Amino acid sequence: MSRYQQEFQQATQQPEAFWAEQAKRIPWFTQPSTILSYDDQQHARWFDDGEMNICHAALDYHVEQGRGEQPAVYWDSPVTDKKATITFAEMRDRVAYFAGALQELGVEKGDRVVIYMPMIPEALVAMYACARLGAIHSVVFGGFAPHELAVRIDDAKPKVVVAASCGVEVNKVLPYKPIIDQAIEQSEHKPEACVVYQREEQRAELKEGDHDWAALVEKAPYTDCVPVKGTDPLYVLYTSGTTGKPKGVVRDTAGYAVALAYSMEVIYDVEPGDVFFSASDVGWVVGHSYIVYAPLLRGCTTVVYEGKPVKTPDAGAFWRLIEEYRVKSFFTAPTAFRAIKKEDPDAKLLEQYDISSLKNLYLAGERLDPPTFHWLDDLLDVPVIDHWWQTETGWPIAANLPGLEPMPTKAGSATVPVPGFNVQILDRDGEQTGPMEQGSVVIKQPMPPGCLVGVWGDPQRFHSAYMAAFPGYYLTGDGGYIDEDGYLFIMGRTDDVINVAGHRLSTGEMEEVVGAHPAVAECAVIGIHDELKGQLPVGLVIPKDGFDGDEATLESELIARVRDQIGPIACFKQVLVVSRLPKTRSGKILRKLLRNIADGKEFGVPSTIDDPTSLEDVHGAMRDRAVGASDKATPV
Ligand code: COA
Ligand code: AMP
Repeated sequence: MSRYQQEFQQATQQPEAFWAEQAKRIPWFTQPSTILSYDDQQHARWFDDGEMNICHAALDYHVEQGRGEQPAVYWDSPVTDKKATITFAEMRDRVAYFAGALQELGVEKGDRVVIYMPMIPEALVAMYACARLGAIHSVVFGGFAPHELAVRIDDAKPKVVVAASCGVEVNKVLPYKPIIDQAIEQSEHKPEACVVYQREEQRAELKEGDHDWAALVEKAPYTDCVPVKGTDPLYVLYTSGTTGKPKGVVRDTAGYAVALAYSMEVIYDVEPGDVFFSASDVGWVVGHSYIVYAPLLRGCTTVVYEGKPVKTPDAGAFWRLIEEYRVKSFFTAPTAFRAIKKEDPDAKLLEQYDISSLKNLYLAGERLDPPTFHWLDDLLDVPVIDHWWQTETGWPIAANLPGLEPMPTKAGSATVPVPGFNVQILDRDGEQTGPMEQGSVVIKQPMPPGCLVGVWGDPQRFHSAYMAAFPGYYLTGDGGYIDEDGYLFIMGRTDDVINVAGHRLSTGEMEEVVGAHPAVAECAVIGIHDELKGQLPVGLVIPKDGFDGDEATLESELIARVRDQIGPIACFKQVLVVSRLPKTRSGKILRKLLRNIADGKEFGVPSTIDDPTSLEDVHGAMRDRAVGASDKATPV
């Protein structure tokens, strides 16, 4: 039996013994005596009676171990033309004083703090400061509009909001304070205070109830780590579901820390002192796990990059960063490399850089399409590792494991299930499929440490969204198959969630915004294939009877609505006015069929629709209009 098989088998058959062993990777205040227990809904909870603090494990502990002078963070911001290096000791102190500042504002263990910040070191400081106090952070990505922020504020009910005065995109400064102000105006819950980190690029005007970050820190006391229970929540991170309301994924503390520490060794194959670069954003799960927490837990240096893969200043940005910081493990989304390939198809810019420090390249966030895989595989001398995971799991479900046993890669596959994740493929009736047969990808309970432990404030939704479909299994929402060698292929979502440039978005949420327009009778939003971003949303709209307005005006109003209410990150730029949508006999819109039309998989008229002309109508409209509406859209 191979090392991987041995470890996988042990994690599956003796999960308590396996994870008790892995728990030795992190420092505890009180060792756990209970490794695995179950909550009243029979969901796994890990290390319940252990006590620790993830901020201590990631910062104070390493300083105590003699890493105080090692860089913890390399901040690189071509968009502001700034860089900084922060050691473990400096980071611990910044966090300890900012935790003191939050404490002075009344933040205590269990309180929520919403963080709305760009890719600056202070975002990490704010997250670790919450963790230090046992407070629960909820980071909201900067590309979301005030309404989305308001929804999260109402759900998480934070005592304090921490923000930066602005974000900086490639060639524009985006003031954040007006977004925060509008969100708080819209929300029913009113946070007690707002702390603003003032950036030189654009300072914010502070009002009553607002506090200047620097002024607060100046008089704040140094604050020690508060011990928390293994199962105490560390954060709530909102992610798109099928309905309009995002789900607040709740992460515990110790299980997460143990899982991340394990993954840094077996998946990411890094040692303390190595440099780890994840080109994501602190607002996404990849940012939480592999920019903020995992690298520092492992004693590595994390690269915090405020820039894009291209245009900052060119498509050589990632190669430059790998050379400059001697990056050993690099992680990004396939869409980023599609953007690089588009600008620099022959990778001429790579010739200018020495990337010999790089040992493995990791890709996730969306399917690694075979053309991008082959482009990278031909270009680089290192393994190109596709690995699959979700906000809910917090760390990879399937991956190649070079730190345990490197395996040959296969284009289109995320390789094998990671020890702890008992992945199975089930058909509609809940029966296991055979090799190569597609079905719903599920994870047999118990889920390993690090995975979600609930949906914030809504235990029922946790159960109905993930656990109810196949009792005893967690429903991932992805479809796929396992081949004869045990390699897992994830083929896409089975629900109405779409993936735009590695960002997960809900078409249901967009439909709510579009459908609320007074001139819209009915609508459907679907994802269509896009060469660069993987998918792009398209709105199909039936105007109300008697609508005599201009279609182009309606289209631009709907586009503006989605941008205003969800944010620019939705990339909602195409609306097609149609006269009918294909429906079932009971009147439900056939979304799957629409998706198939968009993907070019469906050209016939299925027997399930009452009115075949409606399908022709949609099909024709999409074919004629999508091509002209965006140069990025692939003709259907
Ligand atoms: N704050 C405010 N606005 C933001 C933002 C942020 N943090 N991030 C993106 N936006 C805005 C952009 O400015 C853009 O606005 P525009 O419509 O006014 O131009 C819009 O949201 C869409 O952004 P994006 O999808 O990022 O498109 P892009 O063309 O700027 O860049 C890529 C395309 C592929 C280069 C970029 O999406 C990318 O690097 N993706 C990788 C994503 C990733 O790492 N995901 C994490 C999973 S591992
Ligand atoms: P998020 O929760 O935003 O990380 O998005 C998770 C979803 O992205 C998954 O459910 C998949 O649909 C998709 N995804 C992420 N990584 C991969 C991958 N390596 N291969 C295929 N799909 C992926």
